[in-house]
Amino acid sequence: MRSVVFVAPFFAETTLRFVSALSRTEDVHLVLASQEPERKLPDGLRGRLGGYVRVRDALDPSTIAGAVRDVAKGTSRPVDRLLGTLEELQVPLGEVRDALGIEGMGAEAGRNFRDKARMKQLLREHGLPCARHALVETPEQAQLFVGHVGFPVIVKPRAGSGSRGTYRLSTPDDLVGCLRSMPPTPERPLVFEEFVVGEEHSFDSITLDGRPVWYSINDYLPGALEVLREPWIQWCVLLPREVDDPRYDGIRRVAGDALAALGMDTGMSHMEWFRRPDGDVAISEVGARPPGARFMHLISWAHDFDLFRAWADVVVHGRFTPRPRPYAAGAAYLRGQGSGRVSGIRGLEAVLAELGPIVVEKRVPAPGQPPSGTYEGEGYVIVRHPETRVVRNALARIVSTVRVDLA
Ligand SMILES: Nc1ncnc2c1ncn2[C@@H]1O[C@H](COP(=O)(O)OP(=O)(O)O)[C@@H](O)[C@H]1O
Ligand SMILES: [Mg+2]
Repeated sequence: MRSVVFVAPFFAETTLRFVSALSRTEDVHLVLASQEPERKLPDGLRGRLGGYVRVRDALDPSTIAGAVRDVAKGTSRPVDRLLGTLEELQVPLGEVRDALGIEGMGAEAGRNFRDKARMKQLLREHGLPCARHALVETPEQAQLFVGHVGFPVIVKPRAGSGSRGTYRLSTPDDLVGCLRSMPPTPERPLVFEEFVVGEEHSFDSITLDGRPVWYSINDYLPGALEVLREPWIQWCVLLPREVDDPRYDGIRRVAGDALAALGMDTGMSHMEWFRRPDGDVAISEVGARPPGARFMHLISWAHDFDLFRAWADVVVHGRFTPRPRPYAAGAAYLRGQGSGRVSGIRGLEAVLAELGPIVVEKRVPAPGQPPSGTYEGEGYVIVRHPETRVVRNALARIVSTVRVDLA
């Protein structure tokens, strides 16, 4: 029996999928630590937990450590695994594992994944391809960097997520505006990066003891930042069936080394990367956590299994059986146009009827729902089919015909 503590500040729907998968894993005593009241847990799940600890601040290492100690005391045995899937938990969980001697990634490795400047520095030191970057603490350093690499550049927070606070600066005026609205300081530095031209992708993989054992690749249609900046774009993500396509050779060659350089041990990681027009790869960023944006669902559909359950087996028992890929899969994210709340949806019924059984999952935006403000939009449709071409066409059809109105 493994004693497992899972930390989840809030009960996001996907977070609960991870908790549920853990609770169904064999030989596990699972305790959930959260800021939410226990009564908000779905009924079925509550009965499968070995315990519940309500904490005031689930991102605070000393609070988490306190919860872990209480669990160890209550069960009269040490905690074997301390887990969480949120981007923001990578470092706090590492600190607690270090302090309490719990197996798994420590804080040093956590920082490699959380701090975008440190990540790029390490990748570069290991000879791995990524954009040139600078951690900028003063406006002068920003000017110097831009003078060096030229426009356009990307500016982003050191520890961001969801493309928030990330901008493309194309002209000297853009730079002046940026330095005025969010001036970099030693306390609040900014990461500046050379702008990478190319197609954006993910490389989502499973490693056991630092050894990559399985991966999946997604194509972003188009890149995340472009989606966020252009309110009319409804994002699509395509998981092609041909994961062995030669156009992915570049990332296959370097991904394992990149994960090793950053200190990935056992679990799932989410790597984003660019394929430049000449085929060269630039590794963009890596999270030592499972991917978001329904990628877990997409990967599950394409491989005809439950990746949440597989993830739980990986992180608790360190075992995984690689899966073949009988399908391509894709997600079309339905995004509200205009401003206000969701007031109506046009064209969805017709396109669903037209596509028929290749639609395997959907979330229809509900009238009155506030906009998410993210590239994931207000809802989604997932399709799958043995032929990548069919999935690609279906995604194009969905986003060109469905309109979600905000008013
Ligand atoms: N150097 C770059 N060149 C071009 N686009 C970039 C670059 N860095 C980031 N982006 C775009 O901005 C998005 C957000 O940046 P990212 O580093 O992935 O931060 P986040 O943690 O917010 O996802 C990326 O998905 C990509 O579309
Ligand atoms: Mg990203």
